[in-house]
Amino acid sequence: MNGNKTFTMIKPEAVAKGYTGKIIDQFIVGGFKIIAMKYVQLSLTQAQEFYGIHKGKPFFDELTQYMSSGPIISIALEKDNAVNDFRALIGSTDPNEANEGTIRKRFAESKSKNAVHGSDSDENALIEINFHFSSKEIIS
Ligand code: CMP
Repeated sequence: MNGNKTFTMIKPEAVAKGYTGKIIDQFIVGGFKIIAMKYVQLSLTQAQEFYGIHKGKPFFDELTQYMSSGPIISIALEKDNAVNDFRALIGSTDPNEANEGTIRKRFAESKSKNAVHGSDSDENALIEINFHFSSKEIIS
């Protein structure tokens, strides 16, 4: 059975350009419930830990430096079939390949500066939520 939680970050360029409200609205219109949310700037070490599964990949340094370069919004979300439905809502990693109307098609610049992160599995969603939030900060 698919899980009902996923995790997202609105990435630095999308926050800096003022897209936060429009992006969160699209989450809610898409049927997701916010169960925790935080405005925060990651340190480089935190970004490296968060994206640890990508360590060694050619884009790791660019991605982690970028993700620690400015404030982000981290959000835990709830919906049936959350991981897959959220990935459909945000679109492909590469905004050039994202479908019309998806968040990345509307707001992303490039593969790294792709407006939002989305968990890739139920297991990682829980790990990522626990990375950013204590149990007391989650209101489900
Ligand atoms: P995100 O959903 O945050 O999860 C991993 C991130 O790695 C992904 O979005 C992209 O921003 C980034 N990424 C994946 N593949 C590439 C790539 N080929 N070049 C640059 N960044 C990438």
